[in-house]
Amino acid sequence: MAYDCIIVEIEDEVALIRLNRPEALNALNKQLLEELAQALTEADQNDKVRCIVLTGSEKAFAAGADIKEMAEKSFVDVFVGDLFTAPTEAILRVRKPIIAAVSGYALGGGCELAMTCDFIIAAENAKFGQPEINLGVIAGIGGTQRLTRFVGKSKAMDMNLTGRFMDAAEAERSGLVSRVVPTAKLIPEAMAIAGKIAEKSQVAVRAAKEAVNRSYETTLREGLLYERRLFHSLFATEDQTEGMAAFLEKREPQFRDK
Ligand code: HXC
Repeated sequence: MAYDCIIVEIEDEVALIRLNRPEALNALNKQLLEELAQALTEADQNDKVRCIVLTGSEKAFAAGADIKEMAEKSFVDVFVGDLFTAPTEAILRVRKPIIAAVSGYALGGGCELAMTCDFIIAAENAKFGQPEINLGVIAGIGGTQRLTRFVGKSKAMDMNLTGRFMDAAEAERSGLVSRVVPTAKLIPEAMAIAGKIAEKSQVAVRAAKEAVNRSYETTLREGLLYERRLFHSLFATEDQTEGMAAFLEKREPQFRDK
């Protein structure tokens, strides 16, 4: 399918989705979000795709929800229209891993979109923030909830109340991002990491993603039980037999997703 606000490329089993509204620093308008939801759903259903990378431009991952589009809206418009719920739900339904590769600004809805992905790799020039407070509103898709779990209450409060930005080094120190890489190398690094994930057994990859995500939704005891059940169930797969045999035979495993 052809898109106006995003670019999708598939390379070596990895779908690279680029947000592409350079004139507005990839501000998230309705069309972009609908296209993104569609592209993610397609990538999830495409058997040739084993991992997804979501990125923006060097200057901006996304500078937030589109303020021009939001400015005219009333309470009833956003409440009844459930602004932003549908695309977020689409991302959460994706079962393949999604890596956010963030360069430049990831602000407001942009930061929240990155946090909705499975993990974030940041370029050295990345800047994260929840500046909605400067617009007389607050975060609406996870900036007070996911960010707090990533970086703790103190920093999340600071960012949500002052609107200050966090640079890549602070984001890594705080646990918001998993790695920081040189800005010019962001895409090759993200694609290489996605490529590594694509080599694994997709059965185990799905299970790992589900189990880590479950830790956000339940108690430790329930989460541990869920993890153990998944761990045990992977012993019903050929990939477990192959993975362990390959280790013992000192060779690379040939996973077949079975
Ligand atoms: C619409 C935006 C935009 C946005 C930038 N632009 N951010 N348009 N919505 N969120 C547009 C600018 O209007 C400008 O267009 C062009 O992109 C370049 O931006 P500049 O401001 O000229 O660039 P610069 O001086 O480099 O400053 C970059 C910036 C700044 C610091 C990122 O653009 C900025 O503060 N943007 C807004 C960030 C923000 O508040 N985000 C939160 C949005 S609320 P023109 O046509 O004028 O040249 C949100 C709520 C989510 O995200 C909740 C979900 C429910």
